Amino acid sequence: MSMPSRLCMVHSKIHMKDFWKDRIAYQIYPRSFQASGINNGHGDIPGIIFRLPELKDLGIGIIWLSPVYKSPDADNGYDISNYYSIDSKYGTMADMERLFAEAAKRDIKIIMDLVINHTSDEHDWFQKSRDPSSPYRDFYIWHPGKTAPNGKSMPPNNWRGFFMNEVWEFDEKSGEYYLHLFDKKQPDLNYKNPNVIKEIKNILRFWLDKGAAGFRCDVINIIYKTSLEDGKKSMAVQGIEHYKSQEGNHEILRELRRDVLDKYDCFTVGETVMVDIDEAKLLCDKSRRELDMLFYFEHLEIDRRIARFIPKKFRASKLLEVLAKWQQSLEWNAIYLENHDQPRIVSHFGAGTCSRDGRPHKYWARSAKMLAVLELTLRGTPFIFQGQEIGMTNFDYKSLDKVNDVESHSLNKLMKKMHIPGFLRWTWIKASSRDNARTPMQWDSGENSGFCKAKPWLDINSNYKYINYASQKDDPSSVLNFYKTMIALRQNNECLKYGGFFPVFADKRLMIYQRRLGKEGMAGAVYTIALNFSSRKAKIPKKAAAVLAGELVISNAEKFIGKSAQWGAALSNRILLPWEGVVFKN
Ligand code: NOJ
Repeated sequence: MSMPSRLCMVHSKIHMKDFWKDRIAYQIYPRSFQASGINNGHGDIPGIIFRLPELKDLGIGIIWLSPVYKSPDADNGYDISNYYSIDSKYGTMADMERLFAEAAKRDIKIIMDLVINHTSDEHDWFQKSRDPSSPYRDFYIWHPGKTAPNGKSMPPNNWRGFFMNEVWEFDEKSGEYYLHLFDKKQPDLNYKNPNVIKEIKNILRFWLDKGAAGFRCDVINIIYKTSLEDGKKSMAVQGIEHYKSQEGNHEILRELRRDVLDKYDCFTVGETVMVDIDEAKLLCDKSRRELDMLFYFEHLEIDRRIARFIPKKFRASKLLEVLAKWQQSLEWNAIYLENHDQPRIVSHFGAGTCSRDGRPHKYWARSAKMLAVLELTLRGTPFIFQGQEIGMTNFDYKSLDKVNDVESHSLNKLMKKMHIPGFLRWTWIKASSRDNARTPMQWDSGENSGFCKAKPWLDINSNYKYINYASQKDDPSSVLNFYKTMIALRQNNECLKYGGFFPVFADKRLMIYQRRLGKEGMAGAVYTIALNFSSRKAKIPKKAAAVLAGELVISNAEKFIGKSAQWGAALSNRILLPWEGVVFKN
């Protein structure tokens, strides 16, 4: 599994100009972050400004802001009806400008969410395009239906969408169907039309001129549809071979880079759906000038079937294999364990369960810290999702009517059609729902967890009395303070930031890897990281124990920095405590 040393040297090259390699990013999902004053139970932009000091204190240098544009919210803002305007529930354009300015004062850059595979059906372009003679008709993908054997009209092809949905909607006014890979209120744009690309360039320029430092590009490897032919039969996203990572898609990314992005000091991180390593290499190859880095999904799907929907057994060895592949194949990675579409990582890979009254598992904190060690010792730009730094867990709802996520409801509908019993549907939805990540931020133990004054748009997890920012702020042993320590450790360490990645050992619950930085033929820095993904002690095999030597830099099980008595005693027996994570400087 290890990488030849020449490649390691390539990996070790530091591009100091790339500010985004040198900073820690933090994703804000605005509707759940912080409401200001007495408003409507939604987070907003003044709320974000209010919390900038907390982000600075954590060590954040980049914010990825999920959509705040005008939107009817069929998919919580990922359905944009005006790219140039701020939705009133988040504030005004003046608030947004103030956010750029206040963040800049603290040396925090902001990247915007660029959602351009589709717009809202309420976008002016789409409304106009419903008229077949409009110049906007070709902004979207309209198509006549096929005639079924019974003479009725049926959709143009057999594709299925990302929400397990039908992808064609018939529009009475037009007499044709339009394509929507997501919800029917999210019609796909037509990237064969140069006028669409022209408009997108204007949107990019607008936000870069306002002060954006780049973009997180939503589902950016599926925007170009090469053909509309039937897809191969598939359980999941049927038809994807006609639009995933197509040559036309690469060309558009290069064009946006050449004509707009290259003129600014900015970067892009692509969200790339079902991307494989070869596609990723093309998308991120520096010389091709497409994306600077990308979010892939494979590491979060090692214990899931059909994307993330159905759980299966976790194995640390599988996780290390997947991580090693991505770490070693790409020059630079976007590192993440959580975002607004994924379950909370401490509930997913850690000990994130809570008792009925919300009291967390005895290893909740330690496992959350171990996952911090993992995220902050990988090569790439770490993206922390709001609440991850305090170990927030999956929601504790008892029934589907508490769930807002359009995807969960769509999945439920499909499973019902397939006669899957209710208890199983609910078990799978609980494990996969995107609302797990979207419950409001738990700032304190007061009313509505300090998130808002009115009824929150989505129920707050009842464990907020135990898991919240305020109670962790001054507790040196908290998850929050561990994150701060890990961030500081990484930020002051060239090897943890830029060193090559080398897997050492893994079994079903133990994982050991190294980061190495040095000039060819010369001794350089080496760090060894060992993580126990279980509530049982883990024995380190003799052959791997040799690398756990030198200075213990950090352990989550005892003190933060320095040698821990407990580790000292355990070391001679080559034992990692339950959920322990350690970093050694060799
Ligand atoms: C990916 C986003 O992260 C997700 O939240 C959204 O539903 C889809 N893209 C569609 O925009």
